[in-house]
Amino acid sequence: MGKLLGAAELEVSPVVANNAMNRGRRLASYSRELGLDLAGLLPGRRWLDLCCGEGHALAEGAMLGADVTGVDLVDHFAVRPGRNLRLVVAGVPGWRPGERFDLVTVVHGLHYVGDKLRVLADVAGWLNEGGRFVASFDVASVEVPSRRGLVATLRGQGFGYDARAKRIWRTGPAVIEFPYDYLGADDTAGPNYTGQPAVVSYYGS
Ligand SMILES: C[S@@+](CC[C@H](N)C(=O)[O-])C[C@H]1O[C@@H](n2cnc3c(N)ncnc32)[C@H](O)[C@@H]1O
Repeated sequence: MGKLLGAAELEVSPVVANNAMNRGRRLASYSRELGLDLAGLLPGRRWLDLCCGEGHALAEGAMLGADVTGVDLVDHFAVRPGRNLRLVVAGVPGWRPGERFDLVTVVHGLHYVGDKLRVLADVAGWLNEGGRFVASFDVASVEVPSRRGLVATLRGQGFGYDARAKRIWRTGPAVIEFPYDYLGADDTAGPNYTGQPAVVSYYGS
């Protein structure tokens, strides 16, 4: 384990500020990554995408009639905001919306976040009744006293997790308090399953 980093140090880490990471996925790619038919799902829905990158998928969603909010730590947006497309430069956890959503997604973004469990808990509070959350997520990037215990805790709090697809999801809102204390993030762990260097988040209980 390297030195554990706080939020400010993590934001300027070369792993997080890495320009080689893919920020340019389109909506079809988002659908494949998330196992969702987004083109069918999005019309008329309120969609929040965290760690949105350049925003191409969001612009496509807005064109389909979704009301879209994208949030990213850095302004690498390659699309223009519009009446139903908001682009916000902010980090998670920390940023908070003033509304609830029908769909919240994170495509290959949690890999670079420090307190990943805080984001999962926050997002659960931002869903409408019946609202869906789906994200790329690998429990191997979370260091806890027992990883099996973590998966059981996530399932106990209403999250689904697919270890093969590296995906986490939930339906509907909840107030969630995980039984872990966030200790900090390690940006020296090397590549994760995507082949890109990622951030491992450390927790005690
Ligand atoms: C691999 S890119 C994926 C971008 C987009 N979701 C896609 O699939 O095209 C990861 C994105 O997460 C953003 N990011 C990293 N840490 C973040 C944080 N703490 N809060 C918000 N965005 C973050 C990065 O700036 C980057 O744009």
